[in-house]
Amino acid sequence: MWSRRASRLVLDRTKSNRAPDASLAYLLAWNAQPVAAFSNIAYAMSRLCGGVLAEIQPDLWTEQKMDFKLAVVGATGNVGREMLDILAEHRFPAAEVVALASPRSIGTEVSFGDKILKCKALENFDFSGTDICLMSAGGTVSKEWAPKIAGQGCVVIDNSSAWRYDSDVPLIVPEVNAEAIAGFAKRNIIANPNCSTAQLVVALKPLHDKATIRRVVVATYQSVSGAGKEAMDELFSQTRAIFVSDSVTTKKFPKRIAFNVIPEIDVFMEDGYTKEEWKMMAETKKILDPKIKLTATCVRVPVFIGHAEAVNIEFANPISADEAREILREAPGCLVIDKHEPGGSITPHEAAGEDATYISRIREDATVENGLSLWCVADNLRKGAALNAVQIAEVLVNRKLIAPKKKAA
Ligand SMILES: NC(=O)c1ccc[n+]([C@@H]2O[C@H](COP(=O)([O-])OP(=O)(O)OC[C@H]3O[C@@H](n4cnc5c(N)ncnc54)[C@H](OP(=O)(O)O)[C@@H]3O)[C@@H](O)[C@H]2O)c1
Repeated sequence: MWSRRASRLVLDRTKSNRAPDASLAYLLAWNAQPVAAFSNIAYAMSRLCGGVLAEIQPDLWTEQKMDFKLAVVGATGNVGREMLDILAEHRFPAAEVVALASPRSIGTEVSFGDKILKCKALENFDFSGTDICLMSAGGTVSKEWAPKIAGQGCVVIDNSSAWRYDSDVPLIVPEVNAEAIAGFAKRNIIANPNCSTAQLVVALKPLHDKATIRRVVVATYQSVSGAGKEAMDELFSQTRAIFVSDSVTTKKFPKRIAFNVIPEIDVFMEDGYTKEEWKMMAETKKILDPKIKLTATCVRVPVFIGHAEAVNIEFANPISADEAREILREAPGCLVIDKHEPGGSITPHEAAGEDATYISRIREDATVENGLSLWCVADNLRKGAALNAVQIAEVLVNRKLIAPKKKAA
């Protein structure tokens, strides 16, 4: 299969293209205003050291915290592999990390830093000695297994949509509502938002704090990796088929995705919106503010990794483009790349393999009172899924919301 090797190649290539020095030089070159650039450079340095939030700097880990035992469910998938990479990059204080997937993958090898882990089957695994389970195996698996795992005293951080709308399950983006994590104890489950919601709320939160958002209109440009490894295979094989004049087959997507865009993601709802669009609306309300009105058009584009969003925002109070730019430059998780000349905006290709939510094209919308438009891009497998889940685990550990069940030998 292409995905298992080539999706890693896509990621590895983007990472090696952006060595730490190059990233810093890039930020220095692209930040229009040198003083405000400082926060971006500091952010980049902390990110390159492995942390996103100041509170989760790896240097702060203590020996005692090395006792945590983690399981990654869906370890052979796009998100699961990324979770293992990020746990290793962040030097997460785990005594042991176990890779789990379906019975099909028993013995499959996955990388974890310098180590190779052999996958075990979820259905045979005893979670009674495990502290945290990072889960990314789809909604059906999560619906069945998350309560069983949580019932064994293991905190589940779930990436599917199975638990996001349960009022007893916190839905968390650490830069936005980390304090809500404390509510996890009701079910022992914490939900991650949809990939397109995660990057959006990181960008909206600091602007909402300043000028109170009333309404958001967003159009997404979502990469195929958001639909799993088979979807990446489909873009690759369709593209190849077109180049060699073979017939094109569609399986994962409703229409050809190669050299095309598809204005529907997930199933249709009764009102004509798709479930993906509904998720963005419902999740933004739950994470940020139930009073925010949001309408979305979600579009799949032939990009392997990285979601982009064109966002129009109406505020209750005045806010200029310059003010918004300054606020976003200081905001946790955000990097502003906004030079008003050709090539002065971020694209998914550049965001792939990176941790930040990038913001470009910040401008005033004169057609409404207190309106702004902007362009927002992030790696959907990282901030949209795996990175956000690891950040949640880091908050659990760092705020001492959980203690390891067993001391390491
Ligand atoms: N991709 C994104 O941008 C993104 C963002 C946010 C949330 N999510 C969510 O994260 C989840 C995974 O997405 P993905 O993109 O990583 O999908 P994926 O690449 O298709 O991987 C699916 C993973 O689930 C495992 N799995 C399937 N059935 C299983 C079972 N019965 N028991 C145990 N493991 C099983 C697979 O194992 P095998 O290899 O053994 O089949 C594989 O490791 C989905 O719920 C998705 O909605 C994804």
